[in-house]
Amino acid sequence: SEVPHDEFWIFGYGSLIFKPPPGVERAEPGYITGFVRRFWQMSHDHRGVPDAPGRVVTLVEREYYWSRLAERDPHAKYEKKECRTYGVAYKIIPSQVPEVSAALDLREQNGYSVHLVPVHASSGSVILAIVYIGTPDNHAFAGVEADLDKLSELIYKSKGPSGYNKEYLLKLGEALRQLHDTNGVMEEDYHVEDLMARVRKLEALDVNK
Ligand code: BEZ
Repeated sequence: SEVPHDEFWIFGYGSLIFKPPPGVERAEPGYITGFVRRFWQMSHDHRGVPDAPGRVVTLVEREYYWSRLAERDPHAKYEKKECRTYGVAYKIIPSQVPEVSAALDLREQNGYSVHLVPVHASSGSVILAIVYIGTPDNHAFAGVEADLDKLSELIYKSKGPSGYNKEYLLKLGEALRQLHDTNGVMEEDYHVEDLMARVRKLEALDVNK
């Protein structure tokens, strides 16, 4: 079914999954296609600091990923052809759309750009939503990290004004598992699951914590 064009929906695939935006009228879990979710975006302002940036997720367009990045990505073999990314679509209360979109657009200053995507909601409807993506041409795009030990150590030790980078990873991973449990059909996100397992191992081995 189609939604009226005056409805304002945001699709969250990162922190918005576990920390919804303000002014939410309705939340619909669902997926988009054509992108790969990766911890390849630097965070200088939330989960890291300017000289020691953390890593947060961004989405990479499927064609670009397969033609330019996949050969160096150890997780490429776990990607399915359709490239589904699960998350949550939020409908914003109409009267609050101006202030919510103004607040979210601050993200554009951090390298994210706004895209329009169809969300396949678990309710069966298709919802047109905006999504914030850190594309490969943005200054904070870190690119492929082929060394997963290095990436998980970086996430394990980074910290910024919003808190520990590992907390971001674990909250995202747990929220994705919950989407899975409550909506049945969802596939696991191998990239996120593997990084979670690696960071939990580092934590268990850390005598200084
Ligand atoms: C997200 O969860 O979709 C998101 C959060 C912050 C910046 C960009 C995207």
